[in-house]
Amino acid sequence: MSTAGSYDRHSHRDDAAEIQRLASQARSGWGKEARKLIWFGLRDGMSVLEPGSGPGFVTAQLLDLLPTSTITCLEIDPALLAQAQQELQDKVGERVRFVEGSVLETGLEGNQFDFVYARLLLQHLSDPVGAVREMFRVLKPGGKLVIYDVDDDLFGFFDPPIPEFAPVLQRFGEAQAARGGDRRIGRRLWRLLRSVGFDNLGLEVLASHSDEASLESFMQHLDPDRLGWLVNGGWLSQAELDAFAVARQKFMESAEAYTLWMMVMVCGEKPE
Ligand SMILES: C[S@@+](CC[C@H](N)C(=O)[O-])C[C@H]1O[C@@H](n2cnc3c(N)ncnc32)[C@H](O)[C@@H]1O
Repeated sequence: MSTAGSYDRHSHRDDAAEIQRLASQARSGWGKEARKLIWFGLRDGMSVLEPGSGPGFVTAQLLDLLPTSTITCLEIDPALLAQAQQELQDKVGERVRFVEGSVLETGLEGNQFDFVYARLLLQHLSDPVGAVREMFRVLKPGGKLVIYDVDDDLFGFFDPPIPEFAPVLQRFGEAQAARGGDRRIGRRLWRLLRSVGFDNLGLEVLASHSDEASLESFMQHLDPDRLGWLVNGGWLSQAELDAFAVARQKFMESAEAYTLWMMVMVCGEKPE
């Protein structure tokens, strides 16, 4: 496998801004995410696989949370893997391993991990079932898989509302689907894990909001510079994008601006 599914880090007009966006997405709300991972059974000392680890910002948080664990980063994009390697290896040495490859065919020995955390990966894959099967294979019996991902029908809300956002989100979903992804993967995860053989399933919704993190940390994900590819690909008209850009700016200037977003976390255990 050579493609990163429907994820294209060059979609953003500015590469550095996209990396910065991933960093902020990994850090804001981490406390709540970490508490939920622990609630699902993540413990220090476990051997952890992080497929789709990208530039390693989530890995850094996991390494801090689990001071004696070993974490294996599995990433299909060699440039992102190299960036993670540079950031992390000096700090933690042997505790982190880097593997270039696809979650669909990891080449890793089976039955070796206590925990797999797949964050914002499944929405990009045209074969999520194949990916879950492979994660099942590499887990030890009794090991756990947690998937954190999106479902656009749960996306959230803006107050005051931004009606111009609905067509943008709709076309974003259609464009990602045309690349093989699924921005409504959240609702499929429970059945997907069950169909592959996972037991003891659990589902949680994680909310984050702009009074807890900054408004900018949310709105950067909707930076019009990140959405130009929708216009270039014929998914959105320039007029629709411009109307959204104006409405977004007006929202951000409103003294009362507030937004709340939700993500899905699903856990399953490989039977003993
Ligand atoms: C949206 S990024 C998420 C990065 C990180 N998990 C996070 O939450 O910040 C998706 C990542 O999955 C990687 N990816 C996409 N398809 C993959 C595959 N088949 N196997 C492994 N990694 C893949 C992409 O290259 C990218 O780094």
